[in-house]
Amino acid sequence: MTMIELIEKKKQNISLTQEEISYIIQEYIKGNIPDYQISALLMAIYFNGMTDDEVYYLTQEMLNSGEVVDLSEIKGIKCDKHSTGGVGDKTSLVVGPLASALGVKIAKMSGRGLGHTGGTLDKLEAIPGFQIEISSEDFLKQVNDIGIAIIGQSKNIVPADKKLYALRDVTGTVDSIPLIASSIMSKKLASGADHIVLDVKVGSGAFMKDINSAIELSKLMVSLGKKAGKDVVATITDMSQPLGFAIGNALEVIEAIETLKGHGPKDFQTLCTELTIEILLVCKNASSYDEAKKLVEKAISEGLGLAKLQAMIAYQHGDSRVVDDYSFLPLATQTIDLEYKHDKDVYVESINALKIGEAAMLLGAGRATLEDKIDFAVGVVLHKKVGDKITKGDVLATVYTNGKNTDEAIEMILDAYIMSNQKVNTKNIIIKTIK
Ligand code: URA
Repeated sequence: MTMIELIEKKKQNISLTQEEISYIIQEYIKGNIPDYQISALLMAIYFNGMTDDEVYYLTQEMLNSGEVVDLSEIKGIKCDKHSTGGVGDKTSLVVGPLASALGVKIAKMSGRGLGHTGGTLDKLEAIPGFQIEISSEDFLKQVNDIGIAIIGQSKNIVPADKKLYALRDVTGTVDSIPLIASSIMSKKLASGADHIVLDVKVGSGAFMKDINSAIELSKLMVSLGKKAGKDVVATITDMSQPLGFAIGNALEVIEAIETLKGHGPKDFQTLCTELTIEILLVCKNASSYDEAKKLVEKAISEGLGLAKLQAMIAYQHGDSRVVDDYSFLPLATQTIDLEYKHDKDVYVESINALKIGEAAMLLGAGRATLEDKIDFAVGVVLHKKVGDKITKGDVLATVYTNGKNTDEAIEMILDAYIMSNQKVNTKNIIIKTIK
């Protein structure tokens, strides 16, 4: 078989066989197929899609392109939680400690942020001293000792995805449902957890812009997980506006801590509670939704989740005083309140999450390329969200800046707010759960 025959085949919307998909992935990672041929294939997949069998073969082949983590030395049920990415998404910092406090083992490998979306590792690194590079022995030991570790993804996990994702990023083929499903699920399956809870974001700040695509992606990922013998649940959640109030690394750490103290923004607090409930149910640490909900509420009110976060920070060499005193986190030199200056009262109709994420990136909170250095202190805190009434003098948002691109960022934030003269209905953060 030759690569050109396979491109022709996919172009004519004829399914590729398992053998053909193996050939493509294996030869590509060996460097025997050039990027331009894989690019052509990716574009054919983008337009023609893939059958469920093709996606399964692709996922398995990618998974087997590198190391598969063995978590069998960790006693108890191991669960992984994954978000498809969004703006202000600090969920792992809350859900991981809560689930761990309730008996689930969290051995999590997270990623860095790129573009407008943030990454859990960057948020954790905003905590002075926090180490994300830990040997596999220490990782397993930590989870056995305290029930939770969040570390950087091993370099050897799914090398095929690293190559393919980089190519997709520059060929306009990221937002293809079969390619996203195989990319995410190959990494989740390689990370070794028994159960997986997926948070599939939908809306302006997410890869999936509409609910039907989010449902299709969720169903596909759940079925890929099940075929591989894992219990997988996907919760589709709203990303039509940023999640919570804070966007920016240290600011999001503060918001996560506040949420573990029970003082989080309503949308974020609800999301964290519901995802932890799903984890408890899928891991059978609770037998009903009501029981799981009571357990999560208790873990928050008694500070059990907060204590877990503090223990994890201390174990990973971070300054755990941040939990009680935010002045130990990096602070921006300047804060600027963005006021609503018009006489007419209005309501917030929408907040473009993508624009807010890009504004935070301009300030230095995110990176345009993986090599860019992040400023942990900077970002945006929204004070008004969709549905809120605004009158003259109200502060819409506060910008935390160290002077980089401040004016452009402010313009972008103001641009992201769309106002309405009429009252606006709010959306539920949890849209649908697919099991
Ligand atoms: N996240 C991933 O890991 N892969 C994708 O393709 C999209 C989001």
